[in-house]
Amino acid sequence: MVRVAPSLLSADFARLAEDIQSVKSAGADWLHYDVMDGHFVPNISMGIPVLKSVRQCTDMFLDVHLMITEPVKYVRQFCEAGADLVNVHVEADTQEKILEALDAVRACGRKTGVTIKPKTPWEAVLPFLDRVDLILVMTVEPGFGGQKFMHEQLEKVRALRSLVAENGKQIFIETDGGVDAVTGKLCIEAGADVLVAGSAVFGAADRVDTIRRIRAEL
Ligand code: DX5
Ligand code: ZN
Repeated sequence: MVRVAPSLLSADFARLAEDIQSVKSAGADWLHYDVMDGHFVPNISMGIPVLKSVRQCTDMFLDVHLMITEPVKYVRQFCEAGADLVNVHVEADTQEKILEALDAVRACGRKTGVTIKPKTPWEAVLPFLDRVDLILVMTVEPGFGGQKFMHEQLEKVRALRSLVAENGKQIFIETDGGVDAVTGKLCIEAGADVLVAGSAVFGAADRVDTIRRIRAEL
């Protein structure tokens, strides 16, 4: 089953509750919540208090993507604020500290994810394979919504899908950045089963139709 996770980065922040309700009723599976610290990426988005408010207004699965340095310092707070899954970038700290961050998320009873930037090889996830429920392959440079999909990242999705299948592991493979109905189909063919889409969903006149198309149902 392919899941579509609209990214709240493209929602109207003054009307988050309405936008969340809108994508939920349009058939979205998860919500993707982008956290940027102005340091790991050259942009600042939203953090822990807004996540708490989002948690209070929806029961949807919250997939939190931390684009922050030293995530181990904050993962517990994001879990307490209502994250169902916390994604940390492998580039955001040492291997030891990333492992510690993943363990902290697990200890809070939440799902774990590791994320790789476009220039990071897929092999960078290997040290974390035993501790993750999801691997996120960025298909744009993290930091901004509305960028162009990087087709060459699909090779990494393919490689990771084979790896996960060979090891018999139950690990989601997610793509994020520039995903729409056309590129979403390519992601699914390459083996992704969670598709993040920001501008494609929130910018669409017909969100029901768009989510179905991204899921390659139409
Ligand atoms: C980018 C974020 C994405 C972003 C995707 O750094 O991680 O989740 O919101 O936006 P679109 O789908 O517009 O590329
Ligand atoms: Zn994201």
